[in-house]
Amino acid sequence: MKLIIENCERKLWEWLYLEYKHAAEIWKDNIVFTNVKDNDMFIRLRNLGKVYRESFIEIIDDSKAIVLDPLAEKKLCRDDFIGRDYIIIGGILGDRVITGKTREYITKKTKKAIVRNLGKVQLTIDTAALVAKLIYMGLNLDEIQISNEVEIKINEIESIVLPYGYVVFQGKPIITPGLINYLLKKYERNEF
Ligand SMILES: C[S@@+](CC[C@H](N)C(=O)[O-])C[C@H]1O[C@@H](n2cnc3c(N)ncnc32)[C@H](O)[C@@H]1O
Repeated sequence: MKLIIENCERKLWEWLYLEYKHAAEIWKDNIVFTNVKDNDMFIRLRNLGKVYRESFIEIIDDSKAIVLDPLAEKKLCRDDFIGRDYIIIGGILGDRVITGKTREYITKKTKKAIVRNLGKVQLTIDTAALVAKLIYMGLNLDEIQISNEVEIKINEIESIVLPYGYVVFQGKPIITPGLINYLLKKYERNEF
């Protein structure tokens, strides 16, 4: 089983890189980045996995694929993987709410792939990669605890709220490694 991240961003923003890196750590040698048009992005992502300038639809048999789209009608389950070789996630940074970008940029490209959701909450790219892997390994979606949002406290009165779903393990959200430091530095530089 390969995880395909169909990149839809024009630049490798630091936040995006951190999520891609975490997804690559979760899927190890089985991650592929497609639709990577930008040269710098192409070179940097080669350290994380296979990289293609083409969209997934140009290089795989889409009848062997599952697309993860928050607007899909059915939930992903273990049996969906039977007879399929690829699971596709949008390389799309989250907006405040679900906007339908996955449907627009990915689902509409394929007629043969099956399309599934991971619940009603918008997950980050790396969280979607983690949840997909856990279901591939045999868990049911309902057995995976997912937060509605995560609040990062900066001091006694200020905090940053990330309005995305993260897997909660032993009471703590699994936040993209490096993200909190990145956000705190941005905050110190007055970049919010
Ligand atoms: C941060 S989300 C971007 C979602 C995008 N704003 C939209 O409205 O479609 C990045 C990717 O993770 C996957 N994803 C996130 N939440 C999901 C959910 N609840 N169900 C299925 N896939 C999800 C999708 O593949 C999505 O393209």
